[in-house]
Amino acid sequence: MEIGLDLGTSSVIGLLCEAGLPRAEARRPLTTASPTPYASEQHPEDWWQAARAVLAELVSGLPEGRRKAITSIGLSGQMHGAVLLDSAGAVLRPAMLWNDGRAHAECAVLRAALPGIGTLAGVPPLPGFTAPKLLWLSSHEPRTHARIAHILLPKDYLGFRLHGGLVTDPSDAAGTLWFDQAGRGWSGALCAASATDPAWLPTVQDGSAPAGRILPELADELGLSRKVQIITGGGDAATGAVAVGATEDGTGLISLGTSAQLLLAGTAYRPNPDAFVHAFAHTLPERWYQMAAMLNGARPLAWFAGIAGSEIGTLLREAAEVPETRVPLFLPYLTGERSPHGDPHIRGGFFGLEDSTTRAAMMRAVVEAVAFCFADAVESFGPAARGLAPLPALGGGAQSDLLLRAVADASGLTLFRPEGATSGPSLGAAKLAALAAGTLGRSDLARRPETCELFSPSPSTAMQERLGSWRALYRAVKPLVQ
Ligand code: XUL
Repeated sequence: MEIGLDLGTSSVIGLLCEAGLPRAEARRPLTTASPTPYASEQHPEDWWQAARAVLAELVSGLPEGRRKAITSIGLSGQMHGAVLLDSAGAVLRPAMLWNDGRAHAECAVLRAALPGIGTLAGVPPLPGFTAPKLLWLSSHEPRTHARIAHILLPKDYLGFRLHGGLVTDPSDAAGTLWFDQAGRGWSGALCAASATDPAWLPTVQDGSAPAGRILPELADELGLSRKVQIITGGGDAATGAVAVGATEDGTGLISLGTSAQLLLAGTAYRPNPDAFVHAFAHTLPERWYQMAAMLNGARPLAWFAGIAGSEIGTLLREAAEVPETRVPLFLPYLTGERSPHGDPHIRGGFFGLEDSTTRAAMMRAVVEAVAFCFADAVESFGPAARGLAPLPALGGGAQSDLLLRAVADASGLTLFRPEGATSGPSLGAAKLAALAAGTLGRSDLARRPETCELFSPSPSTAMQERLGSWRALYRAVKPLVQ
């Protein structure tokens, strides 16, 4: 048996599997702090306590013999975050997350220093990536910067606490902006331009490679065998892809977690920096993927439900009843946007509110806005995203028929909800662990899920018109938010 452990932004999820088939799941919530404008932070100790509780819950129901049958734990996690450690391995400050926008000025510095950076690093500089954060720290928190001895990505910090080593995989390295995507190694030039000593960076190895054995005291605490291997794993975009066999040319997925992605996998490195389509190394050898990465996936739904003081499910049911003609426009950019705008400054807003506008109509506008982001994503990809086989939809947002129908209508993509859609990255991490343990083979990882419950596009003219107005709204608002 294997465990997939995914460090998401809103929760840590553990999935107990047998040869890649889910048997039990445990979750612990996480909260995010934004102490100053643009900041988005979590404390690595909170990740670790949540991960420990998840592991304890997963194994607590198992009799001794079954616990000892667990051979490996694969890791997955939110990408791009900076975990800074001193020489004793202590955390120096809260982790700056993937949606932290503070390092925006540093992106311009990097672009000027290395004009070809988008092609080398897979995407032009954006503040959520790790390298601009280091440049920001060097001038805003020089005392902390001076004490850095190691930098880890979020899932690799869990790995450090589980096995004691400093290791990452190509997919998480890919999201740092320090990685030469074609050469699949750290780039001295990218490090030099971003106040980063390459010696601080972890060893890069394939996602299915063992990173180390579980620390003996932890194995004893959990009642696990001391032989359990911790498997390197991947960034959550890559492990989500592994979960649904998106590893070969022509395969892909959409994801609707806190953030949202349209991802297409393949056997070649295909940079497309102009539209902020990310071209990243996959967690498996000789594989890459292209990804439109939107910062605001299902999160705006949860945000609006909080504002409206209601449950998301209730609001979605109300929203489904709203006549199309009564839906206002909503820009969903609560934390800026990556693809296609590369714009950390833009913020969200409603437009077209009337005296009669209800919370249901506003929720419907939020749903449509997320769907419109996928229309932009498809446009950024160009021909590569047209005529695709139905794509699996992962993440909590994929639970909503209304949202999936809206994404299909707005983007022209045909979608389906695979079994276990909400645990995508943890399943991918468990599959990498199963590959390492030999209970799954490489060809098993390329197997696509059964296509079921198709959401095929049938856009109304009114929706297409609103998409046009929504795009115009961004252009109109942009000069106000610089
Ligand atoms: C990918 C991305 C998100 C985060 C959070 O580029 O930013 O997937 O990893 O889930």
